[in-house]
Amino acid sequence: MSFDRSIKIAPSILSADFANFGAEIEAIEAQGADWVHIDVMDGHFVPNLTFGAMAVKAFRKHVKTVMDVHLMIAPVDPFIDAYAEAGADILTAHIEAGPHIHRTLQAIRGAGMKAGVALNPGTPASAIAHLLDLTDLVCVMTVNPGFGGQKFIDMTAKVRELRAMIGDRPVHIEIDGGVDPVTAPLVAQAGADVLVAGSAVFKGGSVQTPEVYGDNIRAVRAAANGVYA
Ligand code: DX5
Ligand code: ZN
Repeated sequence: MSFDRSIKIAPSILSADFANFGAEIEAIEAQGADWVHIDVMDGHFVPNLTFGAMAVKAFRKHVKTVMDVHLMIAPVDPFIDAYAEAGADILTAHIEAGPHIHRTLQAIRGAGMKAGVALNPGTPASAIAHLLDLTDLVCVMTVNPGFGGQKFIDMTAKVRELRAMIGDRPVHIEIDGGVDPVTAPLVAQAGADVLVAGSAVFKGGSVQTPEVYGDNIRAVRAAANGVYA
């Protein structure tokens, strides 16, 4: 994976048809998705349950771009090898999931994946001050994790602060939650480069009508890039 800070759209399959993930992944990639965002939830760290490493391994066969795995689980460390084996390109752990995030990020990189750290809305940017050289991606939650379709919580000040802290390190700033054509410009202007969008991409479309996915992806991308027009 080469690094650049161009805007990337990472649809979250949390909003996809849970009975048809393979076809849904192929549809969003054919319609312009840059990455595929996979929301793993354990029903403990967040009040919802999705799927685990076995399912992610099955998704891998359908992902041609980047499999961006967001772990909303605690603890994380016992499962890192399982997600490496499942084929995750990026594995993101929540800083709030346990006391040893520094070791977790070392272990993720040690298992051969890019390491991401996610910050819930209540966690300050300063929390990652000593992690910047262990991290390939900072995921700024703009909803409280657990569900798709929630209202965007404005974290643009945190994004600006992170952008300054990161400097010219090859570290992505990913925004996760409530991203749509209205909120995308706000976070792009603040310095984000990867935009997760679940409901904004999947709304109104289906595997039978994938062009709607394409329209939705283009709408978010254009809104974000419009900042630089
Ligand atoms: C929430 C997940 C997000 C969510 C985004 O816990 O981490 O990735 O699926 O969904 P939308 O874009 O609908 O807010
Ligand atoms: Zn997510």
